[in-house]
Amino acid sequence: MKTIGLASDHAGYPLKERVKEWLTQMGYEYKDYGTNSTDSCDYPQFGHALASAVESGECNTGIAICGTGNGINMSVNHHKGVRGALCWMPEIAALARQHNDANILVMPGRFIEESTAKECVETFLGTEFEGGRHQRRIDAIPC
Ligand code: RB5
Repeated sequence: MKTIGLASDHAGYPLKERVKEWLTQMGYEYKDYGTNSTDSCDYPQFGHALASAVESGECNTGIAICGTGNGINMSVNHHKGVRGALCWMPEIAALARQHNDANILVMPGRFIEESTAKECVETFLGTEFEGGRHQRRIDAIPC
């Protein structure tokens, strides 16, 4: 059973709360690394908490949300073995898994329809990595 880690800043908080409902409906367990309200906060704090949990294996995969997705994506991608992928349509979420073996789905809370975000979550969690030539490429990412 996968445990999904969640994180957002204030701009991503409303969508994170919806994601929790969808994960429960889908039968996934989750751990929420904050934030816990729409009060202004700094996305690195929560992005790093989630990425540390993915890095350590406490969570198998993660979902991170800020306003644009960019700031929290930059934060999680500083962690070894973490591959955050900014996704705004399910086709990109599918490719992030198939080609990039992404382990954190990142979404732009202020720039994505809820129905599209739900499709991204379902697709990301339901798509396998293809391996092969893509493994060679992701192995070459760390510098
Ligand atoms: C917060 O206002 C906003 O800057 C943040 O959510 C995110 O979009 C940053 O990348």
